Amino acid sequence: MTKLAIMGAMEEEITPLLEYFTDIKKIDYANNTYYECKLDNLDVVIAYSKIGKVFSTLTASTMIQKFGCDTLLFSGVAGGINPELKIGDLIVANKLSQHDLDITAFGHPHGYVPGGEVYVNTDENLKNIALEVAKENDIKIIEGIIATGDQFVADEKRKDFIQNTFNADALEMEGASVAVVCDALSVPCLILRAISDTADMDAGFNFDEFLVTSAKNSANFLMKVVEKL
Ligand code: ADE
Repeated sequence: MTKLAIMGAMEEEITPLLEYFTDIKKIDYANNTYYECKLDNLDVVIAYSKIGKVFSTLTASTMIQKFGCDTLLFSGVAGGINPELKIGDLIVANKLSQHDLDITAFGHPHGYVPGGEVYVNTDENLKNIALEVAKENDIKIIEGIIATGDQFVADEKRKDFIQNTFNADALEMEGASVAVVCDALSVPCLILRAISDTADMDAGFNFDEFLVTSAKNSANFLMKVVEKL
């Protein structure tokens, strides 16, 4: 690894990451701000993309193609589906899917378009490092499937659909698009999330209440992973 990308979707998701760095250089590019910094001798670029698959695709692609990052770590919050995931708990994705990608009218499964796959894998090595870090520090983490879509889910029916269709453990709005970019460009990626809500009728309220603390949980854990790289 020569240059590390660390991204989130929202400002609250990268603020606790930036606190680990001094000497931060801000670069404005493509309607976004990229923060270049160093950790010991490692070059790091940090950015939040804005919410959703389109903005996160743009940011991940930019970090890799313009900034030359060759490993990408994502930190942020998610809605929990697996009942074992309580607010604040961590999940690391082993694979991800786009739950709102739908050409089922043509007989294809949900999440599939020709030339793509229903699931995109993340990097096994980075995921295993995250699981090791959790073990060493006695931190609870679940390895599982994350479903991504351009909607904030606050509805049991939609949540059940996503659970039943994709066997998903958590849902959010950027992971799968970032993983697709990384897979296509052969850049190993880690998608880490801490639960902010459980995608039910209280999700909006819980998200507002727990965004900052859960984003911090994810960021602090991610930095422990970075130490191991
Ligand atoms: N990120 C965190 N909670 C979420 C939810 N309920 N739906 C979509 N993305 C989320």
